[in-house]
Amino acid sequence: MTIKMTSDISTDEIQTIINDPNRLVRAIFSGRRRNMQPEFEKIELRPVKMHDKLQLQMVTVNGSKSKTSNLEFGDFDALVSLESGFANCLVESTDITITIRFTKKGAPQVHRSARTLSQTTSHDRQKTRLLDPSSDFLSKIGISDRNGLVKPSMKDKYLQIEEFLRILMPTLRDEIAAGRLHQPTTQDPLKIFDHGCGNAYLTFAVHYFLNEKDFPNQIIGIDQREESRRRNLKIASDLGLNDSVSFRAEKIAELGDEAVDLAIALHACDTASDDAIAWSIQNRAQILMVSPCCHHDLQLQLVEVSEPWSIVTRNGILKERLGDIFTDALRAQILKLHGYRTDIIEFIGDEHTPRNLLIRAVLTNSKPEPNEKTKYDEFLEIWSVNPRLAEILSFK
Ligand SMILES: C[S@@+](CC[C@H](N)C(=O)[O-])C[C@H]1O[C@@H](n2cnc3c(N)ncnc32)[C@H](O)[C@@H]1O
Repeated sequence: MTIKMTSDISTDEIQTIINDPNRLVRAIFSGRRRNMQPEFEKIELRPVKMHDKLQLQMVTVNGSKSKTSNLEFGDFDALVSLESGFANCLVESTDITITIRFTKKGAPQVHRSARTLSQTTSHDRQKTRLLDPSSDFLSKIGISDRNGLVKPSMKDKYLQIEEFLRILMPTLRDEIAAGRLHQPTTQDPLKIFDHGCGNAYLTFAVHYFLNEKDFPNQIIGIDQREESRRRNLKIASDLGLNDSVSFRAEKIAELGDEAVDLAIALHACDTASDDAIAWSIQNRAQILMVSPCCHHDLQLQLVEVSEPWSIVTRNGILKERLGDIFTDALRAQILKLHGYRTDIIEFIGDEHTPRNLLIRAVLTNSKPEPNEKTKYDEFLEIWSVNPRLAEILSFK
C-alpha cells in the first residue's frame, strides 16, 4: 500500500529529520491500522552518543519484550515503517513536531507544530520520575517518609503507581486527540472512579499528576471499608482537596449509575475487578485501566476439562495460571464485544508485583466482527465455564 500524504507534509520531511543526527529528538511509530500487522508494536528512535559519535538508537517493542539496536543515521526507512501498518507516528525534532495518525479508512491525518526541543543523547537514559518523592501528598499518604524519601516498604507501590501513570497519560491524550474524550477544564473536569482504592495511593497520585499536567479532575475513591473512607477523607482534607477528591464506603456492585470518563482499579481483589469492569461498561466509561488481583472464579470452574488438557490442569500451579489467563482473556473479549478496543499490557516488571497485568480499554463503539462473539461462545462451551463478568452483565 502506498501512502499518499494529502496535507502539506511528505514522508520525505520525516525521513530527513530521522536522518539528521543534529535535529532528531525522537521518533515513535506505534499502534496498528485496521487489517494490518506491522512487525513490531512500537518502534522508538533517538540519537545516542556512543564513543563520541552519534548513532541512531532503535528500540523495538513487542508485548513485554524490547530490543535495542544502534544504527547509522540514514539506515532507517520511515516509509517502509509507515507502509507496514503503524497507526501513529510522532517525530520530534529540535524545531518541529510532526504527528501522523491514520483514520479507520487508512487516510493519514498530519499535524505539525513549531516547538523547540532539546536532544538527550546520553546512552544510559535515566527514567524520569513522574512523582517527586518529597512531595507533600506522598508523605501524607504514607509512601514517603518525613525526609522526602520513599519508604523501603512502599517502593513497589510507588513504582506501580508511576508505571500506571506512564500508561495513563498517553491513553488520555490519544482519546482527546481522537475526539472521544473532552479536553478537561476547571468547569468540565475529568470524572474518575478508583475502584477498590484501599489506602488511595493511586487515587491521590492520579489526581495530583493530572492536575500538574493541566488536566483538572474530580476523583472518587470507592472501597467497601469504612475505615479506608475515614482515613482517606482526613488526608484529602489535610491536603485541602475536599472539593476534588472524595471517598465512599460502598461495594462496587452496589454503586448506582453515574457519569464517568475514566475508571481505574489497581489490585481490587478477586471478582471486585469484574464488578469494576461491569460498572464501567454499564456507565460507558471512555477509558478503563484495571490491573486485576488474585482471581479464583474461573479456576474453580475448571473441573472437568476436555482432554487432552488435563495434562495441564492436573498441576495446581498451572491450573491457577491457566485460570488467570482465561479470566483476563475473557474480560478483554467481553469488553471488545461491548464496543471497547482492549489490550492487555505488562505494566511493570514482575519483581515489583506478580499481579503485573493491566487491562486497558477505550470505548470506540466499533461493532465487533460477528465471529468474535462466535469465538467467545465456543470458548465457553469447550471449557464449560461462565466468567463472573458475563454473569454480572447478564451477557449471553
Ligand atoms: C489489595 S487492596 C488494593 C488497594 C489499592 N487499589 C492499592 O493498589 O493500593 C484491594 C482493596 O479493594 C477493596 N475491595 C475489595 N472488594 C471490594 C468491593 N467488592 N467493593 C469495594 N471495595 C472492594 C478492599 O477493601 C481493599 O481495600
